[in-house]
Amino acid sequence: MLPKRRALEPPPTPPFQEGSFLFDKGLISAPIPPLERGGGRRPEGSYICRMQRIAIFASGTGTNTVRIIEYFKGHSSIGVSLVLSNKADAPVLEKARNLGIETFAFNRGKFYETNDVIEKLQAAKIDFVVLAGFLWKVPDNLLKAFPDRIINIHPALLPKFGGKGMYGMNVHRAVKESGEAETGISIHLVNEEYDKGRMLFQAKCKVSANDTPESIAAKVHALEYTNFPRQIELFIKSNEIA
Ligand code: GRF
Repeated sequence: MLPKRRALEPPPTPPFQEGSFLFDKGLISAPIPPLERGGGRRPEGSYICRMQRIAIFASGTGTNTVRIIEYFKGHSSIGVSLVLSNKADAPVLEKARNLGIETFAFNRGKFYETNDVIEKLQAAKIDFVVLAGFLWKVPDNLLKAFPDRIINIHPALLPKFGGKGMYGMNVHRAVKESGEAETGISIHLVNEEYDKGRMLFQAKCKVSANDTPESIAAKVHALEYTNFPRQIELFIKSNEIA
């Protein structure tokens, strides 16, 4: 079930305190210091002055993407404006279009050798980028265009089970084979290295001897659906662009 929000609900208080690391049942969060962007931040105490626009990059089925789109539908200050994929026939693109979201597909050459994707993001006035099952390494020009504004989700407790080749079922198989007692999700900022950017949030679930890679994947997906949209919202609310 997606968390419900009432239309006029006041902005929620982040669930962590400055300096805290462990909070609430099993959830871990590093405090998120405000970004230094010189001139882009709103003055203390004022309200967000315009919609914060999200673009989601995804390569696969897009179950997280659908939940993120639905979570922000009707939101007072944040919305999903664009969904992009490196696969023109990825199911995520059709799902997004069915929800009324513009889509854009690109190939490897366009992504790594041109500014087409960045120009598309700029034309759509995108403020934040979310990677939800996007497997390609983010090139430098995109990192520079969105400094500390690209959020990724990884289906394990980084730094374990991260890095090149660690995606999808590969991760869950590795967790099973290693006999880990727990796994989870990691939501982090993207930098030039795979799965190494600043950690924003982690949540855990147990792995029992009876679990299979498939049942581990199902538990991890459930954690993603519960936490990813909300963590995106908290991060954007602390770092909105004026
Ligand atoms: C998720 O498990 C996410 O953590 C990983 O890729 C998967 C995407 O799943 N990065 P979906 O396409 O949202 O169903």
